[in-house]
Amino acid sequence: MDNYQRTEKYDKCFLSQNFMGPNAILMIDEITQSVELTKEMRVLDLGCGMGLTSIFLAKEYGVQTFAVDLWITATDNYKRFLQMGVDDFSIMEMDCTDTAWSDWLAADNPIAKQDIDMIKADNGKYLNLISITGKRK
Ligand SMILES: C[S@@+](CC[C@H](N)C(=O)[O-])C[C@H]1O[C@@H](n2cnc3c(N)ncnc32)[C@H](O)[C@@H]1O
Repeated sequence: MDNYQRTEKYDKCFLSQNFMGPNAILMIDEITQSVELTKEMRVLDLGCGMGLTSIFLAKEYGVQTFAVDLWITATDNYKRFLQMGVDDFSIMEMDCTDTAWSDWLAADNPIAKQDIDMIKADNGKYLNLISITGKRK
């Protein structure tokens, strides 16, 4: 039988307020039961949403997580990390190569077209990715 003692430590109300789909804490709990994680490891949580998986990894395994998201701002996740006791981290704008940007902007889809408008509106300074690095103290 599976053991979800780690998941059970998290406040259900907090979790339900921050889910963006399936129970991310339960899934990461299950995955990490068959993966060996050590404190020296660094994990990229790409598309972290509300940062639940990063919070879990930092708190339960002490790994350094890079929590990156498009819709949820780094500021929102910063507050959530603090609220959940993850309090040793840095926030930075991510570099994006010219090649990656040109490739994205050349894509024929409405979201890329919105990005072109954002870049024009912000005099070319717009970046759509911010990363947070979090680590349990
Ligand atoms: C369904 S949510 C899942 C969030 C989280 N991983 C979870 O399990 O709760 C998908 C997330 O992917 C993010 N996302 C989509 N495209 C992205 C991109 N190009 N760069 C960074 N984040 C992206 C969205 O902002 C959204 O928060």
